[in-house]
Amino acid sequence: MTAPLLVVDSLTRRFGGLVAASDVSFTVAPGEIFGIIGPNGAGKTTLFNVIAGHYRPTAGRVSFEGKDISGHAADEVGRRGIARTFQAVHIFKNETVRANLHRAAVLARRHNPLTWLSRRPHATPDLEGTAAFLGLDMLLDNVAGSLAYGLQKTVGVGLAMMVGPKLMLMDEPAAGLNPSEKIAAAALIRRLRDERGISVLLVEHDMPLVMGICDRILVLNQGMPIALGTPADVKSDKSVIDAYLGEDYEFA
Ligand SMILES: Nc1ncnc2c1ncn2[C@@H]1O[C@H](COP(=O)(O)OP(=O)(O)O)[C@@H](O)[C@H]1O
Ligand SMILES: [Mg+2]
Repeated sequence: MTAPLLVVDSLTRRFGGLVAASDVSFTVAPGEIFGIIGPNGAGKTTLFNVIAGHYRPTAGRVSFEGKDISGHAADEVGRRGIARTFQAVHIFKNETVRANLHRAAVLARRHNPLTWLSRRPHATPDLEGTAAFLGLDMLLDNVAGSLAYGLQKTVGVGLAMMVGPKLMLMDEPAAGLNPSEKIAAAALIRRLRDERGISVLLVEHDMPLVMGICDRILVLNQGMPIALGTPADVKSDKSVIDAYLGEDYEFA
């Protein structure tokens, strides 16, 4: 078996008396698309924030490529090869698509470029190639904020790609998209993995999308893991149906 890319080991994060994530463990294999689902307030975004270095874990560890990154700062985590997209659009709306992608590449190298270069000698993807991959090549000189919402989210994926990640954390990539944009988003996530070799950890409420593209899924409820397995395992799990999906849930 190949070594996991990401290991989350007995991770707990408290906010005062509230346990937002409680003893959560899972691994993401190289080339895997791994989903995290659960009701609002289950701790999904908290987990992302701990993995991405925005919050320190209260207990437990996060390792990436065999190295402990628990509590490392966000830019250090980024340099190691973890990028993230946000639920809401986080782009430079008044700048062109080209300027957005350029800024992301510069920001990724801002701190200690020598460390960056020695650790990730192959990084910094080519801007035009990234735009072409995303179908944004004809829009490079358009102002990002003038694009349709779905395309603005695609620019957000482009910003994450410019970091040259091995793992992309995607927080609700389909939120706010119309049905055809959701289909395009699912196809794009698959292509990130299949054509760019980027593993994906995603949080998403759209069940057809999650069940259709994830290799494995972790289900959280009130900070606690209640199931972990393939889409088929999770769909038929009694505790998942009770806590989240509901008896009459239909998987379109
Ligand atoms: N920075 C914070 N300070 C205090 N409580 C927080 C903070 N971030 C999240 N929480 C709480 O942690 C719980 C889990 O939240 P969150 O991780 O955002 O859930 P999800 O993304 O699954 O909806 C919620 O009860 C939320 O209010
Ligand atoms: Mg959330």
